[in-house]
Amino acid sequence: MDAMSAQVTVMPSGHRFSIESTDTILQAALRAGIPLNYGCSSGNCGDCLARLVSGEVSKLCPHDFRVKEADKAKGALLMCAYTAVGDIVIEARVAGADDIPQQTISTRVKAVEPINAQILALHLMTPRSQRLRFLAGQSVRLASGGAEGEYYIASCPCEDRHIELHVRHDQQAFAERAFTALAKEDVVTLTGPQGDFVIKLDSRRPIIFVAWDDGFAPIKSLIQHAMSLDVAESMHLYWLSDALGHYQENYVRSLSDALDDFEYKMMATDADPAELAGRVLAAHPDLTRCDIYAAGPAAFLDSLRAGALARNLSILGWHQEVM
Ligand code: FES
Repeated sequence: MDAMSAQVTVMPSGHRFSIESTDTILQAALRAGIPLNYGCSSGNCGDCLARLVSGEVSKLCPHDFRVKEADKAKGALLMCAYTAVGDIVIEARVAGADDIPQQTISTRVKAVEPINAQILALHLMTPRSQRLRFLAGQSVRLASGGAEGEYYIASCPCEDRHIELHVRHDQQAFAERAFTALAKEDVVTLTGPQGDFVIKLDSRRPIIFVAWDDGFAPIKSLIQHAMSLDVAESMHLYWLSDALGHYQENYVRSLSDALDDFEYKMMATDADPAELAGRVLAAHPDLTRCDIYAAGPAAFLDSLRAGALARNLSILGWHQEVM
């Protein structure tokens, strides 16, 4: 039987995503990068309870959690058990950073991708039945062979079981192991996620992303998430680096080639923080309708924030991660 595609609209957030008749509402939402709230994903906990506002659904998976008859009559359904029959509107809660529980997952190395002497991209796969719940911009703790380290996730939550991290050859024990011993199929235990440097879902405005060195990892995740959610009117990326280099410049260029509303500028860290902040903001005299997401050292972020607020950025439009 061919899978049929329909549209799901989520209230009150207004998110929309496509769903095929072979997917549960939850599976389709997560694939689209929309972090609807859930727990077990297998019909046991009730955390994915939503309300059907309009349209028709059908049960795809059995579930042990009992939805009260009175609630069912009002449209209550488990998103991990039902699919849509045609276009539907549901009322459901979108998870924030505080809603996501700490998880410990045994992953396998899919690839260790050396990029230069200072940085490698580590690709991990979670087990088939277990995906990591996280929001773009968050970090996790990695452990392997007694070595540990903390890293930002560089991939999108919409990527199902694949997780990309950028490992810098620094003092962390995990970095030494990653550069010298880690190989395909090795087990890496992942604990997390941590952090609240996450995309704001309730506004659709131009977004300026600013990354310093490997601050590009959380910024890359945020860019991919913003793309999958279609929450940005336009996107500008400024990537400042000297020591590590712009190690995924080809990827950034491919985004610029593919998207009409994505611009980027690679910059050197060859001046003091105030001067660099001024260069980033030079093309943006009025930031009234913008959000800025910036990851880098504190002195630079302080200068950038001061300059942005002086150009009318709302204090609610400033999002930073000190690295
Ligand atoms: S996520 Fe637990 S019942 Fe749906």
